[in-house]
Amino acid sequence: MTQPVQTLRWRAGLLEMIDQRVLPARFEYLCYANAAQVAQGIRSMVVRGAPAIGCAAAYGVALEALTLRLASPECFTAGLQDAFEVLAASRPTAVNLFWALKRMRALWEAHRHAAVPAIAERLLEEAHEISAEDVRINRALGVHGAALLSDGARVLTHCNAGALATAGHGTALGVIRSAVEAGKRIAVIADETRPFLQGARLTAWEMVQERIPVTLITDNMAGHLMRCAEVDAVIVGTDRVAANGDVANKIGTYMVAVLAQRHGIPFYVACPLSTIDLALADGNAIPIEERAADEVTGFRDCQWAAPGVQVRNPAFDITPAELVTALITEKGVVRQPDRARIAALFN
Ligand code: MRU
Repeated sequence: MTQPVQTLRWRAGLLEMIDQRVLPARFEYLCYANAAQVAQGIRSMVVRGAPAIGCAAAYGVALEALTLRLASPECFTAGLQDAFEVLAASRPTAVNLFWALKRMRALWEAHRHAAVPAIAERLLEEAHEISAEDVRINRALGVHGAALLSDGARVLTHCNAGALATAGHGTALGVIRSAVEAGKRIAVIADETRPFLQGARLTAWEMVQERIPVTLITDNMAGHLMRCAEVDAVIVGTDRVAANGDVANKIGTYMVAVLAQRHGIPFYVACPLSTIDLALADGNAIPIEERAADEVTGFRDCQWAAPGVQVRNPAFDITPAELVTALITEKGVVRQPDRARIAALFN
């Protein structure tokens, strides 16, 4: 194994995040000093992937608190309140963002009467803990999921639910990593994942780094490969799971799930419990981010569609629970997830 990818790191009082917009052409970290900068990093996809966004938001709160540590309690309260708001407005779909902010707010409230510098230090410790916990959780769910994969399995994945999408190890790719660590030979098939190309740019890069065999396909090739019996399982991550088991994930996931069912291929969704939103009855209530038209009409400086064309760019879709063979969580594998089985995870 090569050195694990460190998506976010704390250096000299600043947050550093790998700029995922320029991978794999360039590997570089960008520096963040306050909440507004971190929110912009999330919005512009420097950091992406549900758990990684949650970790970044937690650090955003901590950075703002440290910036305000010499302020009066009133200024600290007002500044931190603004930080929570700007971070919450950065992206709408991944519930981990709101989960992490809620956890940071609860900590702040529990220490409201402490001295401002002490609160700031405590918030930073909590951000570190959220990240460290994310890696532990991914390792735990990885072990549960690895048991589902047979030696020699060819596993299709969509988008990037790897180390880059988390604080480390990954969810869907974490299952694959854990299976490889357990001595299984796994071959990954990576959907390119139009329009932002997380599969082609990020998943393929992670797998190549670790010498896990990976084959890149464009999204419209998945059905053909399934029909030719070249796919044994599908594993994806998710941005939010509703209480009934409906799953929001990168646009195109629903298409893959329908194809998997058509071909009798198991469709697994790997996620930490923090991605499950019990407040939402079903997938219809999950907010779907609509992103800029220029992600569809071209890529970076190259625009290929006719200027003036109308564009839709929903960044996520909903896969109904009935298409999910199992949820893979840190608490174990939930087959045929439904309201009761999901609720039982939290008991
Ligand atoms: O738009 P992105 O790149 O943030 O979307 C990411 C995904 O859809 C991932 O599959 C999901 O966040 C799970 S990451 C462990």
